[in-house]
Amino acid sequence: MPALRPAVVLSIGGSVFRTGDDDVAYLRRLATLLQRLGRRYRLAVTVGGGRTAREYIGIGRQLGLTEVELDDLGIDVTRLHARLLAGRVGPPTPAHPPTSLALAVQELRHASPVILGGTEPGHTTDGVAALLAVRLRAARLVNATNVDALYDRDPRTDPAARPIRRISWPKFREMVHEHSKSEAGQQFVFDRLGAEQLAKVRLPTAIVFGRDLPNLDRALRGRPFLGTRIE
Ligand code: UTP
Repeated sequence: MPALRPAVVLSIGGSVFRTGDDDVAYLRRLATLLQRLGRRYRLAVTVGGGRTAREYIGIGRQLGLTEVELDDLGIDVTRLHARLLAGRVGPPTPAHPPTSLALAVQELRHASPVILGGTEPGHTTDGVAALLAVRLRAARLVNATNVDALYDRDPRTDPAARPIRRISWPKFREMVHEHSKSEAGQQFVFDRLGAEQLAKVRLPTAIVFGRDLPNLDRALRGRPFLGTRIE
């Protein structure tokens, strides 16, 4: 049996996916990158729901929907985004995102990249990516987000915030715990479930700005990149 190609997992935040700024050109170039790397690796990609998911969750909350119903709304938006990207990438990438981790793993046996959104209520697409990375024994996980690194404070509100270039898993877990809330539409650079799973196996993880495609390409190929390395 030929040796399996290494598995690499990418989580793209919804806030990267749709910013309102030249999204179509970005998605075209992203799709081309994924096609190319999909031939080299068993590549699994999760796509977030971003602002669109938060909008639906916000309306649903005002209407009195339960947390699980709100999560399901969020999941549907992430799948919508996954379909958009998968459609552009084209075969053999499944046009319909797999709805569970088991199905995603199964699809990866004959297709790469496999692109999916959320799977079940209670976590985020970062969490899905982390669980997949652990299950696939991935060489690395790359989290493409809307900041260029992990910061010691929120860089959007605090000008004194400094980037962290390297961080250990125990330290990173502490940061995630400080920031996490468990309600639909939560926001941090990584979610709690994801951090717990990755920390257990110390899976090499990178945080990069998702709109810088040459840098994202380097991080996915395990080359030096600009961002944060969790190890
Ligand atoms: P996201 O993964 O997009 O979460 O899922 P996020 O933290 O808002 O991340 P960004 O902004 O895209 O980077 C959107 C929402 O969908 C639900 C959750 O409510 C989440 O907040 N969801 C998503 C789930 O319940 N389960 C999943 O597997 C994925």
